[in-house]
Amino acid sequence: MRNLLIILAAALTITARAQTVELKQTQPEVFSTTNCIGCHGQSAMGGLGPPIAQTKLTREEFLTIVRQGKGMMPGSPVADLSDEKLDQIYTQVGDMPYVESQIPVAFKVASMLTTKSVMRIFLAVFAFAAVAALWGIRYWLRCAGLKELMPHIVKFGVLKSLWIVMKSFVVDGLLVKSLWQTNKFRWFMHGLMLYGMLGLLLADILLSISNPSRGDLDLTNPLKILPIVSGIALFTGVIYVMYRYKRDPYIDNGLTLGKDFLFVNLLLHTMISGFLTVTFNRMGLTGWIMTIYIYHLASITLLIGTAPFTRFQHAWVVPLMISLTRLTEAVTAGKVSLGFEREPSPGRHHKSERIVASVFAELGPEYSDDFNMRYYP
Ligand code: HEC
Repeated sequence: MRNLLIILAAALTITARAQTVELKQTQPEVFSTTNCIGCHGQSAMGGLGPPIAQTKLTREEFLTIVRQGKGMMPGSPVADLSDEKLDQIYTQVGDMPYVESQIPVAFKVASMLTTKSVMRIFLAVFAFAAVAALWGIRYWLRCAGLKELMPHIVKFGVLKSLWIVMKSFVVDGLLVKSLWQTNKFRWFMHGLMLYGMLGLLLADILLSISNPSRGDLDLTNPLKILPIVSGIALFTGVIYVMYRYKRDPYIDNGLTLGKDFLFVNLLLHTMISGFLTVTFNRMGLTGWIMTIYIYHLASITLLIGTAPFTRFQHAWVVPLMISLTRLTEAVTAGKVSLGFEREPSPGRHHKSERIVASVFAELGPEYSDDFNMRYYP
């Protein structure tokens, strides 16, 4: 009986071997020799990437994804992986058994990081930040006396008011006129950050329209150049601000230093992790990509999620407050409402201005006209 079993076992082993040999003869094992297994697992049941055994993708779709990459998966150019090999991989992967129980835990974590779920996470964080930001804006509008100003705006002309506000958004907000007038160098450094950030935002919007699967793009592609140049600008600006935190004794206004610093730091981490992600992806450092990518996503999530509470909010509060200041000035100059300059005074700007003027006059005649009022959180 025992001997019989041994013979049976031996026979089974031989048949199994013969089958493997047969398989190998018709189809050389390619998949296990590629870097795909680093992310999709030895048995193609997933690792940090999804399972691709029994893939439902057509040959065309499969080839496109592998050539161009997708999300965090780097593309493989023909130089690294011939068309022939890729074809074999497709056939092989399609034939490999789909074993649910073999899907690793790592993938269950990583599956939260596909292009689609990242999009969802960001939408949620963004929605939260937007609601919190609106709540904050409500506070500032109340401080600015918008409610009291309203009836006078109607008399002054709603369209004219809108025009003044829009103009101020461009001149004071987008072009940052006040900084241009006080210090051209600081304006430039601030511009690196402001326009760098806008460039990144624009690139991201354009990319999600023209390249939703986030495949690899040529480095000479305008949609690649724009974010890289914007990123370098933003990075330079952030480094300069970090330097100022060390050197400028007046940077601490005594109120918001912690929030300012948090904003700049999160910006720095977002930039560094972003550059590392792109570089590692290009270099094909597959073992590190996911870790760095998670670091990058965490930085962005924190940056956006905390935006309404950090110095980030100056990006919308300051332009809003300046535009209201301009509007109040125009309404005052327009003399549409008698008593506007007296109590009860809507938009307290001109009153505050008078107070500041008198304080400066106390300091000496040379100061009397030399001030510029700004409101910001
Ligand atoms: C750095 C890790 C990594 C490497 C290396 C990698 N992949 Fe991927 N792959 C992924 C990730 C992550 C996804 C999911 C992308 C997404 O949906 O955002 C993916 C998706 C895919 C898909 C699409 C799956 C689907 O159903 O949508 C295919 C097909 C694929 N990879 C094949 C390959 C092949 C073939 C190779 C080797 C030439 C390879 N991958 C190398 C990480 C990798």
